[in-house]
Amino acid sequence: MMRIVLFGPPGAGKGTQADALSAQYGIPKLATGDMLRAAVKAGTRVGVQAKALMEQGALIPDEVMIDLVAERLDGADCQNGFILDGFPRTLSQAESLHGILEKKHTPLTAVIVFQVDEKALIERIEGRFSCGTCGAGYHQMFHPPKVEDVCDVCGGTSFTRRSDDRGDVVVSRLRLYHDQTLPILPFYENLGLLRTVDGMAPIESVRRSIFEKLEERALTTAVK
Ligand code: AP5
Repeated sequence: MMRIVLFGPPGAGKGTQADALSAQYGIPKLATGDMLRAAVKAGTRVGVQAKALMEQGALIPDEVMIDLVAERLDGADCQNGFILDGFPRTLSQAESLHGILEKKHTPLTAVIVFQVDEKALIERIEGRFSCGTCGAGYHQMFHPPKVEDVCDVCGGTSFTRRSDDRGDVVVSRLRLYHDQTLPILPFYENLGLLRTVDGMAPIESVRRSIFEKLEERALTTAVK
């Protein structure tokens, strides 16, 4: 059973690979950014609180995020595994997640760390867009739809860009990643969960590399 955290800075490719893993293993992708954007769209209490913070590239308070993820992990579809994308983002979130999973006797399988050249991330983020109908993600240069202006997944023809994908906001998001998120790594290193992949390789190669690391990990765990 796979319980996976995808870990890396904005634009590293977490969402792209989470979709592939979700399809491969038949387990849900829990992307906290997507959950928050849905809440903003629906105008829920969390959405109202999150909107301005997300537009500035700031983090939503830990207690809000932990409640959101804890509730989601109780869902029937998460009982056979899950892929976390964008969570945890602070040490407090990582410790809370650890506590929640320990209580359920369902520890994480692996934390996949995307190693990337941060200078390239701006180009990735600025070229990103998604289908306005089903949310499938694309990139104008690295991952365009097979037929121009038509979504590969649902055939939709309207596309959107994220309001926090502007250059100045991306710089703030990267700064926060260094200050708040990277310090989580030693916590997972001590738990022996870290598996690193080259996030600068083409999308297909990153995907293969993640599958290899996860299968190795599954074998090691089975042998123990
Ligand atoms: P969130 O939505 O999680 O954004 P993020 O972490 O900044 O990550 P991104 O979605 O920007 O990047 P990604 O790694 O998924 O890259 P992608 O696959 O799209 O969070 C948004 C906001 O929500 C936060 O700023 C914060 O305000 C709030 N938030 C969320 N979670 C929170 C939490 N836990 N606590 C507090 N606040 C929280 O790829 C990028 C582009 O590159 C795509 O166009 C893709 O096609 C392309 N691409 C992907 N891989 C490759 C490749 N290998 N080669 C070339 N191109 C590639």
